[in-house]
Amino acid sequence: MSEKKARIAVFVSGGGTNLQAILDAQKSGIIKSGEVVLVVSNSEGAYALERAKNAGIKAETVTRKKTGSQEAFEAELERLMAENKIDLIVLAGFMNILTENFTSKYPKRIINIHPALIPSFCGKGFYGLKVHEAALERGVKLTGATVHYVNEIADGGEIIMQKAVEVHDGDTPEVLQRRVMEQAEWVIFPQAVEKVSAELMA
Ligand code: GRF
Repeated sequence: MSEKKARIAVFVSGGGTNLQAILDAQKSGIIKSGEVVLVVSNSEGAYALERAKNAGIKAETVTRKKTGSQEAFEAELERLMAENKIDLIVLAGFMNILTENFTSKYPKRIINIHPALIPSFCGKGFYGLKVHEAALERGVKLTGATVHYVNEIADGGEIIMQKAVEVHDGDTPEVLQRRVMEQAEWVIFPQAVEKVSAELMA
């Protein structure tokens, strides 16, 4: 294993519980081949920014609104990636679909977590509670989470890790969302960050 750690940027939009899981995993040593050096939020006031601050990590806010267009938004993100010498981009509840113009510049260097077992309940329109609503509506007995590489197809990149979670009778979308986070997302996302970081630095 090389001594050099992958420099990680985590992109967030909301609460940042997955960011927290990654930061905790860094502390506990589950993540040892990479280091979060930057948190980027596309929404002002996201609680994830507080989490970054509490951990003493540099945080930036870049909004589509302020930058004016998706192109300018992505150009600003690119600038930040270069400025901070980022090796790996981790999308942790980032609510913006990055275009091919951006993703093609970081092949196998952007990963995302999706709260279902891809290829179920994924792609455009499947985000947040909608994913769990769809799973309950279909009546699946197992759902879960998937970490995958990000390319130009929404939720379409190569799968890195998956974990299944049981659906229980009487689950609401909120209850199921919480179980998927606790039992799958917060477990496999840090593991996948370590795996990809180690591979990048090998
Ligand atoms: C998670 O369910 C994640 O799978 C999805 O967005 C949610 C983010 O939650 N992509 P948080 O901001 O990490 O708490």
